[in-house]
Amino acid sequence: MTDATTLFHAERAGHTYGTGATAVVAVREVSCAVTSGARIALSGPSGSGKSTLLHMMAGLEQATSGSVDWGALDGHPAGRPDQVGIIFQGVSLIPSLNAVENVALPLVIGGMSYDEAQNRARDAIGRLHLESLAAKLPDELSGGQAQRIAVARVLAAGPKLILADEPTGQLDRAAGIHVVDVLVEAADELGAALVVSTHDPAIAARFASRWTMHDGILASVSPHDDDFTDRTAS
Ligand SMILES: Nc1ncnc2c1ncn2[C@@H]1O[C@H](COP(=O)(O)OP(=O)(O)OP(=O)(O)O)[C@@H](O)[C@H]1O
Ligand SMILES: [Mg+2]
Repeated sequence: MTDATTLFHAERAGHTYGTGATAVVAVREVSCAVTSGARIALSGPSGSGKSTLLHMMAGLEQATSGSVDWGALDGHPAGRPDQVGIIFQGVSLIPSLNAVENVALPLVIGGMSYDEAQNRARDAIGRLHLESLAAKLPDELSGGQAQRIAVARVLAAGPKLILADEPTGQLDRAAGIHVVDVLVEAADELGAALVVSTHDPAIAARFASRWTMHDGILASVSPHDDDFTDRTAS
């Protein structure tokens, strides 16, 4: 069951890559909901299925078993950065474009005029206090600065759900915490829900809801977690 605040809902959803002898079960029978305003950290060992689950939330990987839906969003979110914004694991800025152009690019691809997209990009960069980075190429940015520009790119599109896949993976803890602070700031500005995968317990500890994955199985380790509750059971 979904309601007006449910941005993503999974009911015994799984994802298997490939078929037959080479099939890999990445996510198994996950039941969860991400509701408006949620702040969720997703932890778990390498290969436990975090990226796959985030890609399912973004509509980039299908549920190969069970079901998923995006009740309060405007249809299927794939290719809709105004609905779900995702920061992928690893570097995601285009090397030949400066920071403003990187932030503006998805808006232009989405049909916005070049000038309007640039204005919107500058606005998002300003809202995150990153003006000094606006004209820099990705090569001229530190890892943490590049990730904060990637957050500005998500903010500019104005999604209702922000997904960040190990945005702090390549950073020291201080830089990682700064990136997470900027992510939370962006989510607060938009009134968006936020799901962040991380290996760092200190970063996970900053989130009200803490979910863990082991071998494709999802569990909550935070008390009183309404988002994790299997709403289909009620
Ligand atoms: N495109 C793919 N094709 C086949 N198998 C895949 C693919 N992507 C991921 N897998 C497998 O699915 C499982 C889950 O991978 P996933 O990337 O979701 O884990 P993860 O928790 O994000 O790991 P990490 O912490 O290393 O990023 C792993 O066994 C992985 O090898
Ligand atoms: Mg991953």
